[in-house]
Amino acid sequence: MGSHAFHRRLDRVIAIDGPAASGKSSVARELARRLGFVYVNSGGFYRAITWYLLQKEMRPEENDLISAALDSAALTCTVQGSESRILVDDLDPADHLRDDRVNETVSRVSRLPRVRQIVSQKLHDCADGHDVVIEGRDIGSVVFPDTPYKFYIDASPEVRLKRRAAQGERDEIAIRDRDDVSRAVSPLVTAKDAHVIDTSHVTIEQVVNEILMQLEQMGLPSSDVHITNARAR
Ligand code: CDP
Repeated sequence: MGSHAFHRRLDRVIAIDGPAASGKSSVARELARRLGFVYVNSGGFYRAITWYLLQKEMRPEENDLISAALDSAALTCTVQGSESRILVDDLDPADHLRDDRVNETVSRVSRLPRVRQIVSQKLHDCADGHDVVIEGRDIGSVVFPDTPYKFYIDASPEVRLKRRAAQGERDEIAIRDRDDVSRAVSPLVTAKDAHVIDTSHVTIEQVVNEILMQLEQMGLPSSDVHITNARAR
């Protein structure tokens, strides 16, 4: 009990990175649930900022205007229950984060250095005082490079396209992939010490179990690791 309480204070970060529709959201959410960690979707921050700028009719090219707008906007991250929630100027953009317009624009907004700086700071704020599972593109490579718990979730382009279509979204993931991989600041890369998992032909349950096993081998206290086949929800 004593040593468990000691470990809990270390604010552990599990980084789940990977391209669009690779399955990382489902994996990260379920992993967080099984560990009792807080689930944080960093893409939600980039989407919230994108939504906010679209509301203000700004284009991603208007770098200086965007920096000024974001300097005066109140972007807050609160932890509610087991998930993080984002507010921009006290507005909750949750219902708009996957709008077509946001899907189309988010990669061009997320390549702006000032935007990345702000989101990185917010993610650190979110992780402060919590054990977290954070999903994104650069969590293990740039935002939390010191965490030992890094996973890169991938799937074939065909499988990813099918998954996104099955969600009923219009989302040009090939274009976002290209933009995310080729940008100058924090591109999507596989951190050199990340465990790579291909989810093309396995279930979410199998991926989560694989990660939990790896975490146990890496020394995450076993009291936090529950490897079961039963899904509570
Ligand atoms: O859910 P999906 O994989 O489609 O995307 P997301 O995780 O919501 O991320 C949306 C976009 O935000 C990505 O295409 C990236 O351009 C950007 N993003 C990023 O640059 N860095 C992150 N850590 C997370 C997202």
